[in-house]
Amino acid sequence: LSTCELSGKTVLVTAGPTSEAIDPVRYITNHSTGKMGYAIAKAAIRKGAKVILVSGKTNLKPPLGLEKFLAVESTMDMYNAVVENLDGCDIIIKSAAVADYTPKTKSDKKIKKTEGELVLELQRNPDILFEIGKIKGDRILVGFAAETDDLMENAAKKIEKKNLDFIVANDITKEGAGFGVDTNIAKILYRDGSVIELEKMSKDELSEIILQKVAELSGK
Ligand code: C5P
Repeated sequence: LSTCELSGKTVLVTAGPTSEAIDPVRYITNHSTGKMGYAIAKAAIRKGAKVILVSGKTNLKPPLGLEKFLAVESTMDMYNAVVENLDGCDIIIKSAAVADYTPKTKSDKKIKKTEGELVLELQRNPDILFEIGKIKGDRILVGFAAETDDLMENAAKKIEKKNLDFIVANDITKEGAGFGVDTNIAKILYRDGSVIELEKMSKDELSEIILQKVAELSGK
């Protein structure tokens, strides 16, 4: 499927996990592989958009035809990359699994083990989507909600709190949904409370639908 429904639009996609250094050797991260975000970037390219992909560490190859590829590690790096590229963007899709907490202090040297416990103090990272939501203007903003409990209640709260146009909610406890796999089972929730329930499908197919919904909102 190749169309030009998003030609003339710039889409920024975030993908993959962020990772937070503890010391030069260790870090905190999550199970995100970036598959969903990379599939979204590809779908946006297919629809004729200029695509900026901001990605945490993954094993995936950046898709051909990107306008820009920005590799980041920490949430703070991702935040800066998103903010620096916001100006020319019409559409922002935040599928990255962002680390909410980061070590309060990062040791320059490898932390040596002792016989006792090690207490790691964590502080909050910025919520990128929440910050962008405050200054979005007429940009289209799409978020993801990966949950293990109370999926739709949490998704509805996030749509309001983060000022999103719609949110893609998925229950990561279901087989064939969430991290690592090639499929996803998602519901698209809009601000007015309407919901589109989708079957289990490939992340490519889901991306096509997400971009279709974005194109509808962007009035093309
Ligand atoms: O609040 P929660 O992390 O569940 O929200 C998920 C959505 O918010 C995703 O779209 C994710 O990319 C985004 N997010 C973010 N910055 C954070 C945490 C989540 O942009 N610190």
